[in-house]
Amino acid sequence: MKIRAAVLEEMGLERPYAKSLPLKIQEVDLDGPGPGEVLVKMAVAGLCHSDLSVIDGNRPRPLPMVLGHEASGIVEEVGDYVEDLKPGDHVVFVFMPSCGHCAPCSEGRPALCEPGAEHNGKGDLLTGATRLSRNGERLLHHVGVSSFAEYATVSRRSLVKIDPEIPLDVAGLIGCAVLTGAGAVFNTGDVKPGGTMAVVGLGGVGLAALIGAVAAGSETIVAIDRLDSKLAFARELGATHTFNADDPDVTAKVREATKGGVQAALEFAGSAKALEFSYAITRRGGTTITAGLPHPKAMMSIPAVSLVAEERTLKGSYIGSGVPSRDIPRFLNLFRRGKLPVDKLLTHRLKLDEINEGFDRLSDGSAVRQIVEFP
Ligand SMILES: NC(=O)c1ccc[n+]([C@@H]2O[C@H](COP(=O)([O-])OP(=O)(O)OC[C@H]3O[C@@H](n4cnc5c(N)ncnc54)[C@H](O)[C@@H]3O)[C@@H](O)[C@H]2O)c1
Ligand SMILES: [Zn+2]
Ligand SMILES: [Zn+2]
Repeated sequence: MKIRAAVLEEMGLERPYAKSLPLKIQEVDLDGPGPGEVLVKMAVAGLCHSDLSVIDGNRPRPLPMVLGHEASGIVEEVGDYVEDLKPGDHVVFVFMPSCGHCAPCSEGRPALCEPGAEHNGKGDLLTGATRLSRNGERLLHHVGVSSFAEYATVSRRSLVKIDPEIPLDVAGLIGCAVLTGAGAVFNTGDVKPGGTMAVVGLGGVGLAALIGAVAAGSETIVAIDRLDSKLAFARELGATHTFNADDPDVTAKVREATKGGVQAALEFAGSAKALEFSYAITRRGGTTITAGLPHPKAMMSIPAVSLVAEERTLKGSYIGSGVPSRDIPRFLNLFRRGKLPVDKLLTHRLKLDEINEGFDRLSDGSAVRQIVEFP
């Protein structure tokens, strides 16, 4: 079938993207689902910094590729052997398909699926197929999803079915921002009520973590960003203290305000500098969790002995260290009961043709979560 999609041909174009147009809105061909695959009509697709990192070359991917990975939609058609989904079902996309039988999948860690990571690296589906093309030329899939398009054909294992009563715009944010942010709090951090925590980097992912920390009952929530506008928003969402990351005395100020540092610092800025800072504001016995994705060449340095003598912990968190088929319904239930108001993350609604302007807004921090709506 013919569909409209946002194709990335070249990384590293200059901003403003509204002028350089890294994402070309084009008519492309999409094949229907093969065995184990599903054709989904897109409802909404969120703009995440991980898409921007492909556009600006910080997270290089093979090209040409149809970008987008945070989305919701409605099943249109299922391929052979797909027995648990049918046309009309509402689904959320997950950007790491899980095979269900490799070593990490067997250990209950589908976010680390080995074949999933391999196929995501190559730009094809978990089934090994590619279903997108343009004038006979193959186009690659972004992390098995490619949601900046009117329809997507994906592996069954890139989808989680959801309750059709949940608004599809909120559901769209669950697959990346909320799974990652709230998952880092509940799964990676195992945050208990009453503690002291910090969120560093207040984009869609960091603010989803902040909303999660409020739900988890954290007593002191310190929010840090380079933009004062983000600090003000964080206070509205429940941050008890806010600090600007560019203040030269910020480390000392956070340590003082929290009487020796936070129990857990969660980093969602995507830079090694922000990660080192997050480590520096944790207390003796504290845990630093990082979900930001810096350039592959970025290195960090920490005083090695502090891990031992201060029993400090440093943990990575990918897709919130979770099990999407368990966590997506859990987080949506918390949303429905008003405990996880992640709809507040949604600041802009766009048409597909406005997507380059959307990435300018994401780059300069004037938006939190923006979604492309598909009619
Ligand atoms: N681990 C995962 O599974 C996963 C999933 C999604 C996104 N990510 C990554 O998480 C990061 C955040 O994504 P997002 O969509 O929320 O991005 P975003 O651009 O919306 O937010 C990033 C925020 O960090 C702030 N920031 C930048 N440098 C900072 C610094 N030195 N100190 C404090 N704040 C700083 C920015 O002002 C901005 O508000 C990105 O690196 C993204 O690639 C990881
Ligand atoms: Zn994302
Ligand atoms: Zn696996």
